[in-house]
Amino acid sequence: MRLRRCAHLLFEPRESLQFDLDSLAGGGDGLRTQLSLLALVPHRQEEIAVSAQDVALLAAVPCTVWSEFDALAAVHGDEPLRDLLARGLLVGDDADSVDHERDERLRAANWRTLSAAQHYLGRWDGVRSGEEVQRAGYVTLGELIGKLGEPPPAAQRHADAAARLPLPPPRQTAFDELLQRRATCRNFDRDVPLTQDALASVLHRVFGAQGTLTLDGGGATTVLKRNSPSGGGLHPTGAYLIVQRVAGLAPGLYHYRPVEHALEPIRAMTVDEAADLALRSVAAQAYFAAAPVLVALAVRFPRSFWKYRNHAKAYRVAALDVGHLSQTLYLAATDLHLGAFVTAAVNEVEIEQAFGLDPLVEGVLAVCGFGTRAERRAADEFDPNGRIWREDGSRIGS
Ligand SMILES: Cc1cc2nc3c(=O)[nH]c(=O)nc-3n(C[C@H](O)[C@H](O)[C@H](O)COP(=O)(O)O)c2cc1C
Repeated sequence: MRLRRCAHLLFEPRESLQFDLDSLAGGGDGLRTQLSLLALVPHRQEEIAVSAQDVALLAAVPCTVWSEFDALAAVHGDEPLRDLLARGLLVGDDADSVDHERDERLRAANWRTLSAAQHYLGRWDGVRSGEEVQRAGYVTLGELIGKLGEPPPAAQRHADAAARLPLPPPRQTAFDELLQRRATCRNFDRDVPLTQDALASVLHRVFGAQGTLTLDGGGATTVLKRNSPSGGGLHPTGAYLIVQRVAGLAPGLYHYRPVEHALEPIRAMTVDEAADLALRSVAAQAYFAAAPVLVALAVRFPRSFWKYRNHAKAYRVAALDVGHLSQTLYLAATDLHLGAFVTAAVNEVEIEQAFGLDPLVEGVLAVCGFGTRAERRAADEFDPNGRIWREDGSRIGS
């Protein structure tokens, strides 16, 4: 057999503080420091405890070329190599090795190691942060200030007030009116289904191809024009829908095709199954899960990294693309007098599994949702100018 080090690997000396009753009883501060050395392994999507000897051995095995097992074993011993192979830190060239296959696919996607570690070790599975922050009283900014003190100021100051150059008053057009009505919605009407017309309009404005260009490079490379910018013009972000309540559309999972402006059914669900996935997808933020439609924004990394190969900015570009799409979604929904939200507090693993997405190809970075606002505000929204809600909690306008 031949082997090599997995392509993407980082080591972190981690220190964690733990409560220690003995320390407290002995007059100490009640804290114990625990030191550990971890390998961050994107292709395994896990952190693996390693020793300093493991690190030294891993540094001695090339990752770009294969080495004969026997030749390495003669120098480093058989057991330590087998141990690292079993933990996926070294990969063998045997055809049935899962680690080999996953490592190959990550290599093929042209990830930058730092970004791969950030992405694959930052994914959530089964996190219920919505409930946790409620329990801990960390929901409103007022609660946060009470626990954490004041945050840094809202804006930086670079000159005395006297040196400031006042600007003319800003224009007010219909666009400003639209912008001013945009606010993150945490109060969806659970009884009002979304119309197919509204669903189609928002999807087309945000994810639809407003135009296409076909380039002849031997195949037919399609370039999309969307209403948001995209790094490299590649638009690698797809829209995966959890449909809960849309008139005339069965609850379940769908994928939106941007050129054909059509939905691909992925899986039919009962109303309860869709509601359960919606809640899990947004980490138990119940106010977001109530939206009639949730849209998981999933980036196809190989399309983006086809241009941005092993690139220090590639993952940032992917995240910014998703941010632009989410703002367009807010505005598209607001224009139709619907509420919208975006959240990055998502259980990517559960969403990807539900849709059958291969996380080595496509990764969810955020979830948006939109739908009709409730008549009355129950959860907090940031509406300091009273554009959406009256003081008594009733909704303004239709
Ligand atoms: C990337 C991103 C992630 C967000 N995640 C959450 C979230 O997890 N939960 C939530 O209640 N709001 C979330 N929000 C909404 C913000 O809390 C909201 O934008 C902010 O309070 C300002 O309010 P506004 O959007 O109504 O102007 C997120 C917003 C952005 C841009």
